[in-house]
Amino acid sequence: MMHLSNLTSLICLAPFVAVPFVRVQDGRATQDTLPAILSTEVPLGLPAALGEGHVSDATLALGRRLFFDPILSSDRTIQCASCHDPEHGFSDDEPFSTGVQGRKTLRNSPTLLNRALGSSFFWDGRTQTLEEQVLMPIENELEMDLSLDDAVARLAADESYVAAFGAAFGQGPSREKLSVALAGFVRRLWRGDSALDRFRQGDHDAFDAAERGGLWFFESRGGCWRCHTGPNLTDENFHNTGVGVDGEAPELGRAFVTGIDADRGAFKTPTLRGLSQTAPYMHDGSRATIEDVVEFYRQGGHPNAYLDERIAPLDMTDSDVANLVAFLRTL
Ligand code: HEC
Ligand code: HEC
Repeated sequence: MMHLSNLTSLICLAPFVAVPFVRVQDGRATQDTLPAILSTEVPLGLPAALGEGHVSDATLALGRRLFFDPILSSDRTIQCASCHDPEHGFSDDEPFSTGVQGRKTLRNSPTLLNRALGSSFFWDGRTQTLEEQVLMPIENELEMDLSLDDAVARLAADESYVAAFGAAFGQGPSREKLSVALAGFVRRLWRGDSALDRFRQGDHDAFDAAERGGLWFFESRGGCWRCHTGPNLTDENFHNTGVGVDGEAPELGRAFVTGIDADRGAFKTPTLRGLSQTAPYMHDGSRATIEDVVEFYRQGGHPNAYLDERIAPLDMTDSDVANLVAFLRTL
């Protein structure tokens, strides 16, 4: 183990190299296990346009370093990656995540895969751009609980960050540049090239018989494709499936943003990419396994006055269930 002071001096000597380091004291630190260089090659199945308009390598390295650095949390224990862990498909394994001082988030941490394809952010879509979104967890008192002024002051007091912002932007740390760097990094987290993408390209051996049966169910009787559609398996729209409606104080969901009664209990259709890594599921983390999710749909979601018309009980045999689960696991 390298001693912290050695590590700090190393970073000062080589400010342009993204050295994975963390100051988390309690051993909870989430490591940067991503490849040293994030490929610019757009994976099979994702739109080629993703490959355009990147931030510079210096900005990407800065955003990456910030994402894994607890410096952005009030007590220096929480990283973005604490709740968005690369090993968990950029989510974590709890229904609700833990922020500073053991505080719990009110919703399940969503995956950050393919957010470049998102048209709004958060489960209720209350934010339109990633640049806006990425600063919010820093200030959120349940997550990192640090004012942006303090965050910028901390970075400005750290020589290696001053150098890294200088290399990326030709100026020192600021809110705006902090957001550009973090959003630039999040935009580069891609997941494609799954069996489904290869199958769609004509590779008929990409699926075994069960997985293929699951795809068929997904696209026919299951009606899943009606919301989980397109390259990222989401319509980027909001629907009430009944998740959470039976809770003590059901959330307004999308209606909180639009003020429209019909949007009550509606949440954003999540991507299904990386699904086998992102359990538990749903905006409240209430479904522990993929099997539980499929059982939920089999029963027709949770009936309520605002249930989406596309959700209804499904006539499924046990092998339909097994096939659908097998297919979802491949994503
Ligand atoms: C304590 C846990 C926690 C931390 C720390 C955290 N997040 Fe999140 N993140 C969440 C939760 C929970 C949501 C969903 C909240 C909601 O929908 O209301 C979320 C949502 C997001 C989204 C929206 C994704 C989507 O599909 O709509 C992005 C992007 C994101 N976080 C990025 C970040 C970045 C960047 C950081 C660090 C600056 C960060 N998060 C820190 C828990 C966390
Ligand atoms: C009417 C649109 C709609 C249809 C049809 C639909 N879904 Fe969903 N799906 C959603 C929404 C919205 C959510 C999030 C619900 C919430 O958390 O409140 C979701 C969540 C999920 C999740 C959890 C993902 C995560 O990361 O938490 C899985 C898995 C899933 N759906 C699979 C399916 C399958 C399989 C089918 C077909 C049997 C299906 N969906 C049909 C809209 C739909």
